[in-house]
Amino acid sequence: MANRILNKLGFTKENEIVGVDIGAASIKMCLLKKMKEGGFILSATAHRSYDEDLLHDGNIIDGAFIGRELKSMAASSGIKTRAAASALSSYSVITKRVAMPFLEREALEDSVRLEVENIIPFPLKEIYYSYYIMGMDEEKEGMMNLLVVAAKKEIVDGYMAAFDLAGLDLSVLDVDIFAITNLVDEIYKPKGFSVLAADVGASVTNIAIVKEVNVEFTREILIGGKYVTGEIASRQNVSYREAEERKLKAGDDVSDLLQDFISNVSSEINKTVNFYVATKPRETVGKIYLTGGSSRVTGLKERVEKDTGIPAEFLDPYLFVKSGGAEETEEEEKYAVPVALYLSSRRDES
Ligand SMILES: Nc1ncnc2c1ncn2[C@@H]1O[C@H](COP(=O)(O)OP(=O)(O)OP(=O)(O)O)[C@@H](O)[C@H]1O
Ligand SMILES: [Mg+2]
Repeated sequence: MANRILNKLGFTKENEIVGVDIGAASIKMCLLKKMKEGGFILSATAHRSYDEDLLHDGNIIDGAFIGRELKSMAASSGIKTRAAASALSSYSVITKRVAMPFLEREALEDSVRLEVENIIPFPLKEIYYSYYIMGMDEEKEGMMNLLVVAAKKEIVDGYMAAFDLAGLDLSVLDVDIFAITNLVDEIYKPKGFSVLAADVGASVTNIAIVKEVNVEFTREILIGGKYVTGEIASRQNVSYREAEERKLKAGDDVSDLLQDFISNVSSEINKTVNFYVATKPRETVGKIYLTGGSSRVTGLKERVEKDTGIPAEFLDPYLFVKSGGAEETEEEEKYAVPVALYLSSRRDES
């Protein structure tokens, strides 16, 4: 059952599915409706932020609390859909690209299991895993590339239990950075060069480099907005909530900390680009897409452009939907909603 759930490409049979993104400091919910003539309209979004951490090492800390919050968010935004799609944080998932010869299904499954035993630092009985065939290997003839995804059972079971409590049926479980890279691909369709996507969140900054549909490289850095808020709280001896307000006001009293944050994030993005082009000299990174609440820190985008020499822009998830829906009143949500929005587009197309 849960093996099926972890199937990254497993589309639900339901034709409408609510996307739910549980971050370190917030929950976002999004419902898209499919239009008869094709494409989606944004039907509803909900977003709540919390002072306390919701996740620890990718585990939901308090399933009963999340269950209640999901239920009340759905109710207050008029979402009645029971089928749900969610995503694990990239840092709690192990993904690996492996090249394999063409094999019959059974032999392939045996080989994948062996591969998983090699790459996963836990006993097989403690994890769920699945794989996805990405296509032919361009360099090695007769070989295909697979993407193997594995997560600890306790994390997946924790998500299932929380959704159950909310009366939701968790039928798709993705990985947050893949939701971002898929959305970038769907919206901007970059051709002829690689692009970097960075989700600068509350506890983590997820970075991916994508070439057309292939995710070439992902990296998680434990830098996020919560750290800045925590520093303001302890240095200025104020509550977390007060510190968060000071951060958002971005006055002189917090500008040093914000500058440090900007330069750390930008330097990690720059290192990632340099590493990528050093290992793949024929590739260039032509564009950077930024998202996540903490990408809004004033000056971050410009600093990234200056350090890398690559044009950057904020990912606009609303380009994925037709106009005339809730996005017209939800401009502020643009930086927060991408993962949940993409998840809500995951359904059976057949
Ligand atoms: N205008 C803003 N300026 C600076 N920081 C902001 C702004 N708006 C939101 N943030 C910060 O963004 C963070 C929340 O971002 P986001 O919703 O992407 O995180 P998350 O998904 O909950 O966490 P994670 O992805 O790390 O698990 C908070 O730390 C918040 O303070
Ligand atoms: Mg997030």
